[in-house]
Amino acid sequence: MRDAQLTINRSALLHNLRQVQLAAPNAKVLAMVKADAYGHGALLVAQTLDSHVNALGVAFLAEALALRGAGIRSPIAILEGVFSSEELEAALAAHCYLVVHQQAQIDLLAQYQGQSQTRVWLKIDSGMHRLGFSPQTAVVAYQQLQQLAVVKEIILTSHFACADDLQSPKTHQQLSVLTQLAQKLPSLPMSFANSAAILAWPDSHHQWVRPGIMLYGSSPFADKDASTLNLQPVMTLSSRLIAIQQIKAGETVGYGSTWQAPRNTRLGVVAIGYGDGYPRHINANTPVLINGQRAAIVGRVSMDMITVDISDIQAERGDAVILWGEGLSADEIAVCANTISYELFCQVTARVERLVI
Ligand SMILES: Cc1ncc(COP(=O)(O)O)c(C=O)c1O
Repeated sequence: MRDAQLTINRSALLHNLRQVQLAAPNAKVLAMVKADAYGHGALLVAQTLDSHVNALGVAFLAEALALRGAGIRSPIAILEGVFSSEELEAALAAHCYLVVHQQAQIDLLAQYQGQSQTRVWLKIDSGMHRLGFSPQTAVVAYQQLQQLAVVKEIILTSHFACADDLQSPKTHQQLSVLTQLAQKLPSLPMSFANSAAILAWPDSHHQWVRPGIMLYGSSPFADKDASTLNLQPVMTLSSRLIAIQQIKAGETVGYGSTWQAPRNTRLGVVAIGYGDGYPRHINANTPVLINGQRAAIVGRVSMDMITVDISDIQAERGDAVILWGEGLSADEIAVCANTISYELFCQVTARVERLVI
């Protein structure tokens, strides 16, 4: 058995869901479980949330079918929608909600001859410029959809580009575009808010919110940490010290000999590397946590191992090492890796043993 472990804490997940519900008490919750629930395990997360949320969100049909096949009963929204009549049939048979963001998807619904019905999430491009009908074409899209028997309900949806940046005018602009559009349509349920908007833009909550990263215990904001937001880490990536070396001052460590010991150093070797999804390009001195004490990574990250300076802490071979999670926030490590916690979570590889608590 290898020491690298990913521990998923279900009570932390439910705690974070409660923070969503506290922030948006009147909204239904569509919980994002796409990309294997941000690397946490889509089935496990879906099973944990199943009776507590109103729907689950995935990116594409196969992700939805995998959850249905495994017995998940909540409605599942497919965020990219479907792209062929076969996909449409399969999605309807699996009782999925469909995002519709382009005319070809309305055409597929119009050609559908069967008896099934679903909720359609009409996606508006309010300024993100990724997916969606422009505000100018949205009314016609709505009119087409509301004539179709397959469409049980239409929910107006859009996505924010900068909801995490409270100084940016972009969210105000997007909300204004959406408010103006809503005035041209009959009253519809609306869904705009991701985690950042749930926490920072109450005007955007409406009938459905779509939390992702806050469910997993990370902060959507660069300048606010997760604990300040009362979020708890769901994922902890850990391993163990498998060897300890005494390195003389002036010796170098690891590939490329990039780190030279400035003093006689007690060096810990930890069984985790980029083969496990720990980022190879991490900054020098990125912390790990050993027995509640921080130690800095020195030298390059290898495929299966990292090396840490444990000269100043209590640590012995076999001790547990936390790379991120409980006691060491993934947001902090993400900064050291010049990325976001979303990416860290998604990159943990299959060879890391999973544990559920
Ligand atoms: C359409 C849509 N809604 C909501 C979310 C959730 O965003 P977050 O994880 O920032 O809460 C995402 C995530 O990428 C998304 O693509």
